[in-house]
Amino acid sequence: MRKRLVAGNWKMNTNMQDGYRLLKDILDGVRENELQSCDVHVYAPFTHLKVFSNSLNGSGILLGAQNCHHEASGAYTGEVSAEMLASVPVGGVLLGHSERRQYFGETNEVVGQKVNQALENGLQVIYCFGETLEEREANTHFDVVERQIKEGLGHLTVEQWDNITLAYEPVWAIGTGKTATAEQAQEIHASARNLLGSMVNNEVAEKTRILYGGSVKPNNAGELFGMADIDGGLIGGAALNADSFKGIITA
Ligand code: 13P
Repeated sequence: MRKRLVAGNWKMNTNMQDGYRLLKDILDGVRENELQSCDVHVYAPFTHLKVFSNSLNGSGILLGAQNCHHEASGAYTGEVSAEMLASVPVGGVLLGHSERRQYFGETNEVVGQKVNQALENGLQVIYCFGETLEEREANTHFDVVERQIKEGLGHLTVEQWDNITLAYEPVWAIGTGKTATAEQAQEIHASARNLLGSMVNNEVAEKTRILYGGSVKPNNAGELFGMADIDGGLIGGAALNADSFKGIITA
């Protein structure tokens, strides 16, 4: 059985003070018995990580960053390495988000190198993939997501898959209020799981969690998470409010 996972991606939101208040509200709201049936992750801005790491210590909630560089270290002004993240410490990193692909030119290959850095430094990875509206309308969405998974993760060993979670985020559903229907999401999740079976093996296909992201709210989370191959959610806007984040965890 795959344990459910609800992960909040805060993106470039909250200053230090507002972020700290939100984290406290989340900590107050999430009960220990909920964490028994559902893992909870918070992907916060870099500036917040050290303070958050102290606050979340022993809480059972995993803290992660939203990006890392694809090289180990060096002359990359302004960048943050996976080793730096691990030393904070944080437990994970979100990689390949469509906003990074779209606005910062990240390719499957570069994201794959970031995955290597993260895994070498003991971080858990949530690897995001998903098609644009044009790709869906051109009926190429299955090919697009297959390529994203193969090119970004095809090089991993069986053992490395222990630390990978996938997140399907159709670009047209992110921040738009337009959620993929549970059936639309399920058919992509099923095909991604199928692909893992042929690309790695059946055991990895069965145990790897595949999250859905894109306008998940407390009122649609239950239906989405009820689908056979949807193992939880990657939450943007609704993760910025402790009540709605908690509502999604309860769902
Ligand atoms: P929204 O939940 O705001 O649509 O964002 C989804 C997302 O991009 C999470 O990574």
